[in-house]
Amino acid sequence: MSPSISLTLNGAKRDVALDDPRVTLLDLLRERLALPGTKKGCDRGQCGACTVLVNGRRVNSCLTLAATLDGAEITTIEGLAAGDDLHPVQAAFIENDAFQCGYCTPGQIMSAVGLIAEDRAGEDLERIREGMSGNICRCAAYHGITLAVRQATRGSAGIKK
Ligand code: FES
Ligand code: FES
Repeated sequence: MSPSISLTLNGAKRDVALDDPRVTLLDLLRERLALPGTKKGCDRGQCGACTVLVNGRRVNSCLTLAATLDGAEITTIEGLAAGDDLHPVQAAFIENDAFQCGYCTPGQIMSAVGLIAEDRAGEDLERIREGMSGNICRCAAYHGITLAVRQATRGSAGIKK
């Protein structure tokens, strides 16, 4: 019998059978749970494209075995907006031109949400850059990304999601 795990995924309880106990959270999300917003870049923990929140903390889902997540709360990029209302970090990315091709953007946004919740970068651009340094952007949209994170930090009282 396949092992199974129970998750709270973007606010909804899910029981998930793991056909392969070695499956990563990234592959589970994209290939089994129809949530392709989380991107696969390097698949080895180097680019941050696969960043999601597990129990409120940023993780590289490509390095996380799904089998270790029984009982966990997972938030992906699909879980941020409330209907047509963008999450403030998503809105800040648009307002600050913080992407070009957009491939890294879900991971950047999830990392930014996690960083703001960690409350350790504040509005200091250098510290924001350091806090976001695990997320690579091949289009080099870093300036806009940094400004977007600072803007979202300024309005962060209500966005600790
Ligand atoms: Fe996970 Fe690159 S795909 S860090
Ligand atoms: Fe293209 Fe970042 S916007 S990789």
